[in-house]
Amino acid sequence: MQKKRVFVTQSIPREGVDLLRRSFAVQVRSKHTVIPAKELRTAVKNADALLCTLEDPIDASIMDAGTRLRVISNFAVGVDNIDVAAATERGIVVTNTPGVLDEAVAEHTLALLLAVARRIVEADKFTRAHKYKAWMPLGFLGPELKGKTIGVIGAGRIGTTVAKAAHHGMGMNVLYTDIAKNTQIEKEAKAKYVSLKSLLQHADVVTVHVPLLPSTRHLIGAPQLRLMKKTAILINTSRGPVVAEKPLVRALQQRKLRGAGLDVYECEPYVDCDPTDRLDLTKLDSVVLTPHIASATEEARAAMSRLAAEGVRDTLLNKKPKNVVNPKVWSKRKNQND
Ligand code: GLV
Repeated sequence: MQKKRVFVTQSIPREGVDLLRRSFAVQVRSKHTVIPAKELRTAVKNADALLCTLEDPIDASIMDAGTRLRVISNFAVGVDNIDVAAATERGIVVTNTPGVLDEAVAEHTLALLLAVARRIVEADKFTRAHKYKAWMPLGFLGPELKGKTIGVIGAGRIGTTVAKAAHHGMGMNVLYTDIAKNTQIEKEAKAKYVSLKSLLQHADVVTVHVPLLPSTRHLIGAPQLRLMKKTAILINTSRGPVVAEKPLVRALQQRKLRGAGLDVYECEPYVDCDPTDRLDLTKLDSVVLTPHIASATEEARAAMSRLAAEGVRDTLLNKKPKNVVNPKVWSKRKNQND
């Protein structure tokens, strides 16, 4: 019998590829670019499974080109790049990789926070430029974080991990908001549940950990930024479009916010939605920018690779994968097989 085929849109840690190669014919695209839709449609024509990254837009046209596709496995937790409803309609299982990157993302969130607060990137540039001539009692001042308040928007696994680390590791007080209360974050980080408005008004640091949904697009826009303290720092390691880029840059330019640490961008992978306007994030010293690397620890990426591959393997071997985003498809398939 011919082996089932798996198409992988970018090189991923070997754990996942090795696992897949044990049972299937695997093609891994080696270019480090977002795969063009036309190339992807051709690539999935004969594929039984697609393993993609969070920047590959997987819409109905891709699914219709991949007439044999039984599973789309996202190398990410967030599945906003996939039209899950279209996959469900077509009986295609969608899987993701939750639970293995919480510590990595939390560590990166705090790395960005410390880098912005203590002006690490600015100071690094200064030092490399041989501008350090004398110790400066007034040089590179920033806020101390101990005793300050961090506001966590989204109290899921990652938000809770950030809250615990900020509280226990840095002595910060924690406010949080979400669509529902979470007793874990309250118990483990002594976090207090407040409205989004109150969180924005009272937090010295605001950190965003919600999935990108229609209801969270531009959750932080001009009116919300206006509520924040002038001395506050905004951190976003979730999805770019949760924060409206233009008002954010305007607020930073006008010093209505102290700074921002961003790992994700509204028009990702572009850092600026409109490079011709004057709202350029890359010109601001008060921001620290990273290229969507919050989950980039060796441990997290290896685990993500394994989980994503298991999603493919289990589906193709008719075993329910651990992380099915659209479980209805699975139960329907099961009933059909009974
Ligand atoms: C990373 O951003 C992820 O969703 O896994």
